[in-house]
Amino acid sequence: MIELTSIVKRYQQHEVLRGVNLKVADGEVCVLLGPSVDGKSTLLRTINGLETFDSGTIRIGDIMLSATVGPEREKALAIVRQCVGIVFQQFNLFPPRIVLQNVTEAPIHVLKQPRDVAIAAARNLLDRVGMLAKQDVRPRSLSGGQQQRVAIARTLAMNPEAILFDEPTSALDPRSTAEVISVMTDLAAAGQRMIVVTHAMSFAKKTWLIRSTFCTPGPLPNPARRHRYSTIPRPKSLAAFFPKPRRRKVGFADLAALPVHKHRCFNTL
Ligand SMILES: Nc1ncnc2c1ncn2[C@@H]1O[C@H](COP(=O)(O)OP(=O)(O)OP(=O)(O)O)[C@@H](O)[C@H]1O
Ligand SMILES: [Mg+2]
Repeated sequence: MIELTSIVKRYQQHEVLRGVNLKVADGEVCVLLGPSVDGKSTLLRTINGLETFDSGTIRIGDIMLSATVGPEREKALAIVRQCVGIVFQQFNLFPPRIVLQNVTEAPIHVLKQPRDVAIAAARNLLDRVGMLAKQDVRPRSLSGGQQQRVAIARTLAMNPEAILFDEPTSALDPRSTAEVISVMTDLAAAGQRMIVVTHAMSFAKKTWLIRSTFCTPGPLPNPARRHRYSTIPRPKSLAAFFPKPRRRKVGFADLAALPVHKHRCFNTL
């Protein structure tokens, strides 16, 4: 379980996260949709400890992170960073190392896995993302989609409780996007807990068939109505997010057609 309670995050005077409440259960896929600069990346970075926050709590399994800076938080963060992986738009593979080494590096050096165990696991993961044939090449000889699939294998190698994806396909061409989305859909179907910021509605649509929480920005609700807001769709926000789709295959109408219990609201702005 990942549970965020009343998370507030400010950059100087600019309040980016205004009391975010979010629960992602085991095996659940949470898709964060929202317009630019509403704080989606900030939220992901806050969850895995790359950013501090000003108030509220984040619970990841048994670990509780509070806003208070100090040795306790640092101890908790070290665990969180190991058990919550993050996949960015840019893949950040290590150029001098071959694909296999990119995947084995952290398990060997951080998890202290024996080299042969890490190599066997990495080969399995590369096979899972369709990249085993490229295990001996350097990242620069791969397409963007292939590099992103290696980056996903690298994250999986840490055996994460959850993976946070921040627009993993937004730097990719349509074919590479399809390859990466296929890998992500397989992970979702296998029960991998994920929080995904994406504009790739084809992924969102596929995961609807699995189990998803859809989040969209909206005003912080009045506390008396919070329960209601946390369990029902926000038609106005969603409609604003998909303004006037002309040849829309997927959009607000599809979201609205989902069973109500599959929606949850992301309270920012
Ligand atoms: N390190 C920082 N210092 C100051 N302000 C920041 C910092 N990081 C983000 N912001 C501000 O926080 C707001 C939210 O940014 P964020 O990147 O989280 O939005 P986003 O929803 O991910 O946007 P996009 O959809 O464009 O990726 C923006 O106004 C941004 O300028
Ligand atoms: Mg972003």
